[in-house]
Amino acid sequence: MKKRTVFVCQNCGFHSPKWLGRCSQCGEWNTMMEELEDEALVELPEGSSEPVLYQQIKETTSQRIPVGIEQLNNVLGGGLVLGSVVLIGGEPGIGKSTLLLQVSRDLASGNEPVLYVSGEESLEQIKIRGDRLGLKSEKVYLLAETSLERIVNAADRMKPRVLVIDSVQTMFSAHLTSSPGTISQVREVTNQVFRFAKKNQVPVFLIGHITKDGTLAGPKSLEHMVDVVLLFEGERDHNHRVLRVLKNRFGPVSELAIFEMSQAGLRAIDNPSAFFLRERPQNEPGSVVVSTIKGSRPLLVEIQALVSSTLFMGNPRRMSIGLDHYRVSMLLALVEKKVGYSFAGEDIYLNVAGGLTIDEPAADLGVVLAVISSVKNLPLPREVAVFGEVGLSGEIRSVSQPLARVREAKSLGFETVLMPEGNLQQLETENLKGIKCIGVSSVRKALAEVF
Ligand SMILES: Nc1ncnc2c1ncn2[C@@H]1O[C@H](COP(=O)(O)OP(=O)(O)OP(=O)(O)O)[C@@H](O)[C@H]1O
Ligand SMILES: [Mg+2]
Ligand SMILES: [Zn+2]
Repeated sequence: MKKRTVFVCQNCGFHSPKWLGRCSQCGEWNTMMEELEDEALVELPEGSSEPVLYQQIKETTSQRIPVGIEQLNNVLGGGLVLGSVVLIGGEPGIGKSTLLLQVSRDLASGNEPVLYVSGEESLEQIKIRGDRLGLKSEKVYLLAETSLERIVNAADRMKPRVLVIDSVQTMFSAHLTSSPGTISQVREVTNQVFRFAKKNQVPVFLIGHITKDGTLAGPKSLEHMVDVVLLFEGERDHNHRVLRVLKNRFGPVSELAIFEMSQAGLRAIDNPSAFFLRERPQNEPGSVVVSTIKGSRPLLVEIQALVSSTLFMGNPRRMSIGLDHYRVSMLLALVEKKVGYSFAGEDIYLNVAGGLTIDEPAADLGVVLAVISSVKNLPLPREVAVFGEVGLSGEIRSVSQPLARVREAKSLGFETVLMPEGNLQQLETENLKGIKCIGVSSVRKALAEVF
C-alpha cells in the first residue's frame, strides 16, 4: 500500500503535490522534498499516552554489548547500547564494510545471530571479504536487499543481536516515490530503522557514504536522527584509519581509535604514539616530536620542517600539511620578528608525519622549533618531546592536560619534555619522576634550551 506523499519546501514549508525545482512561495531553488503526508491528520492515533514517574523508568543505557574490538568499545563510550542507532560515515573504500563485518563476526554467537544487510554487494562479494577476515562458523546472516520494508520484516522475524545496514543510501522505502539516496529516502529509511531499533531493543549500525565536501551524504538532518555518529577517516597513501565520534548520546565525543588496514582486515593499534613515531629519522634537522592531544588521549607525533632557499624570489613557497595554514603563517611571522630570522628568500614546508592533522595550538612550539632546527641545520636532542602554545609576543602559554602529555612522552622513553613554564608549575613533583621537565616562558628561552 502506497502512503500519500507531498513535496514540502524545507525553507518555508510550502506544500505541493508535485516536485518543483523552485519553490513557488519563497522562490528558493532545490528545497522541495518528498515527505509522507502528515499521518496524524489522516488517522488519529488510538489509545492514550500515559506519563511515567521518573523513578519508575528502567535504565537502559547501562545495558551495553561489548563489541569485540576494545578500541571501538571506547569510541562508543563503553560498548553498544541496546536499541541504539549508530551511523558510520566514511569516504568510498575506506573500510566501512570491513569494520562492520569484523564487528558482526565478533558479536555473532550461538543463539544470537547477527544480520548483515548489503544493498551494494552480492552475497558472494561479501563472502570473499569474510574469508579474508577469517569468518567461519559464526552465526552471521547475510541479506542482499534494498527494500527497507523487507529488511525490517526479516529482522523482525530473526530478532538479531545486531543489525548492520550497508548502506543507508542504497535502501529505499516503498512509502516514497523518490529514488534511493535522495534526502527524503535517506531520512525515511533512518526513521524506520530507528523505530525498529527502539521497539526491539536491537542495536543497528547504519553505514553512510560521505560526499566530497566531508558531510554525511544526505543532509545534516540524518545526524540528529541517530544516537551515535562515527566518522571513519584515512589518507589515501597510508594504511592507518582514524575512527572519530561526531556525536554520542551515550558517551563522550572526544574518543578516537586508530586502525591499520591489512590483508586480514582492520587491526586496532594499541599504542598509536609508537606507531606514528616508528619511522622517525635519527638526528635529522627539522624534526620535532610534539605531545599532542587527539580526542581525549595524548599522542606523540613528529612535525617536520624543511626550509630551503627559494627559486621564486619575492614569492617564496609556504606549504603545510596537517597543520593550520594561518596559524603556521602567524608563527613564521613571529619567528622573523622575535628571533630575528628573515624568511623572505626561503621556501618553507611543514608536514605532520603519518598523514595526521593537528588542530591544537599546543603544537605551536613544535612548529617553531622544527622551522628553526631546519634553518640552523641542527637536530634537536633525540630524546626531547615538546608542547606549548606560542603567543604573539613570543611567550609560551599553558595548554590543557599537561600531565597526560608528559606521561605519554615518558611511556615512550623520552627523557626530556620542553613545556610551558605555567604548566610545569601545575604538576606535582611525584609526576615528574623519571622524566626531566623543562618549563620555558618564551621562544627565546626554548631555543636556548635545545640548541
Ligand atoms: N587483500 C587486501 N589486502 C589489504 N587490504 C585490502 C585488501 N582488500 C581490500 N583491502 C582494503 O579494503 C578497502 C576496502 O574496504 P571496504 O570495502 O570495507 O571499504 P568501504 O568503505 O566499505 O568501501 P565502499 O565505499 O566501496 O563500500 C580497500 O580500499 C583496501 O584498502
Ligand atoms: Mg562498503
Ligand atoms: Zn519555499
